[in-house]
Amino acid sequence: MSEFGWASTTDEVLAGKDLSGRTVFITGANSGLGQETARAMAARGADVILAGRDQGKLDESVAAIHAENAKAQLETITVDLTSLENIRAATSRARQRFHKIDILINNAGVMATPFTHTHDGFEMQFGTNHLGHFALTAELMPLIERGHLKRIINLSSRGHFMGPVHFEDPHFQHRPYDPRSSYGQSKTANVLFTVGLEARYAVLGIHAYAVHPGGIQTNLGRHMTPEMQEALMKRVTTSDGGFQWKTIPQGAATSCWAATAPELEGKGGVYCEDCHVAEVDDESSVAGVRSYALNPSFADQLWKLSEEATGAKFPS
Ligand SMILES: NC(=O)c1ccc[n+]([C@@H]2O[C@H](COP(=O)([O-])OP(=O)(O)OC[C@H]3O[C@@H](n4cnc5c(N)ncnc54)[C@H](OP(=O)(O)O)[C@@H]3O)[C@@H](O)[C@H]2O)c1
Repeated sequence: MSEFGWASTTDEVLAGKDLSGRTVFITGANSGLGQETARAMAARGADVILAGRDQGKLDESVAAIHAENAKAQLETITVDLTSLENIRAATSRARQRFHKIDILINNAGVMATPFTHTHDGFEMQFGTNHLGHFALTAELMPLIERGHLKRIINLSSRGHFMGPVHFEDPHFQHRPYDPRSSYGQSKTANVLFTVGLEARYAVLGIHAYAVHPGGIQTNLGRHMTPEMQEALMKRVTTSDGGFQWKTIPQGAATSCWAATAPELEGKGGVYCEDCHVAEVDDESSVAGVRSYALNPSFADQLWKLSEEATGAKFPS
């Protein structure tokens, strides 16, 4: 049983932990939960690699963290998850610049984008949130294999309740586009990817954890119209009478917990929320993980689809 919960913060979860000599690679580290995760991990002595698609924003994030902690060990790397070519180039640079990765946090994400496509023709949310991270992780595996902690954290969301991955039409080519179900599909894919990683790499001591951070006000809502925001608030407050926003340090706490909790060692392939492993629940609208998101045969189906779509090859 975890000693932490809904209101725990990054600093509370990491208190007393020594991360010196550990390398943490975080995508989307120039904003919101990613930046806070970077700050908190660096405060415990980790060498943090902040990945993002805009060098200027990464520099601002580094400056903000350094303003509080001048000794923070921070590196930056640009990677745009909407381009396989860019991901391959960025990870090739990463393999030259860095010796190992102890913890990979696949945190970047977009939500409720209009019907747009990545450079490779993938629907934007599935392409960025899942396929981009699938390709990135494959290319970073040699560094993770050299790490000591060997944990991969995939940021999912309670949004995965919106539905399973639509294997026949993941890119909405033959059905009307819906920004909510597209986000939900991509966040279910984040959990299934976690299950797929655990099935293949637990034997090498590499473990994967999916995380729902809670509801936190960040830049994630930038693509939502005022009507969409109003509808979302109505939904969450109706389904969860006690709905409350978390602060950013509370939101990033479950990522930090999943990345470091000793009680999770060897126990990946799970979905975590509020600093504990969630129960399977196909009814609740306020907690738990849907069984379709942990289904091993869906995880295999997604793995195959993702390999074919991206051409990414994981080491066997
Ligand atoms: N906030 C919540 O309530 C909530 C709830 C459930 C799950 N989550 C998940 O938590 C994660 C972090 O979200 P957040 O709330 O911190 O949102 P955020 O403040 O919008 O941060 C998202 C990050 O992802 C980056 N990103 C987006 N597209 C990218 C791309 N193509 N290539 C590289 N980086 C890209 C963004 O970079 P730019 O600044 O360049 O766009 C930004 O750094 C997401 O995976 C989200 O789905 C959040």
